[in-house]
Amino acid sequence: MQAALQKHLKETQGQITNLEKVFKSIGEKAKAKKCEATVGLLEEGDEIAKEFKGSPAINAALIAAGQKVEHYEIASHGCLHEWAGLLGHQEAAELLKENLDQEKAADEALTEIARSEDNKKARDGESETPSDDNLKSSQTRNSRPSAKRLQFATRR
Ligand SMILES: [Fe+2]
Repeated sequence: MQAALQKHLKETQGQITNLEKVFKSIGEKAKAKKCEATVGLLEEGDEIAKEFKGSPAINAALIAAGQKVEHYEIASHGCLHEWAGLLGHQEAAELLKENLDQEKAADEALTEIARSEDNKKARDGESETPSDDNLKSSQTRNSRPSAKRLQFATRR
């Protein structure tokens, strides 16, 4: 997960350059503006990190938080790409498509990471392949042993 996040952080720097080029291509000057929605999503990620510290579900929960940011970015870059094309700003549309494709790839990478291991850890605890004995004992204790560990998925 760390490698995927580092890669995307580097891409994000390039996206800023792309956005500056987008503004230049339409004869406008780029101005930085704080995005309150992203700030809120990042605060939620910090809250999740504290809440799930030490839990086998922490990586799955953090991936979910990261994917919320990626989906917001996909919506933003996707709309801007469509509008630039509609208005005939070909260069801007291409630059925005590049950013959009990077956001989609980052989201897909997080999905793959979650599916490969972390979602199963969230479901099963640290044991990735619980033995039959473990399954039987947890089924005896609770008919839905994974419900508590996966509750993060329904609370947000
Ligand atoms: Fe992103």
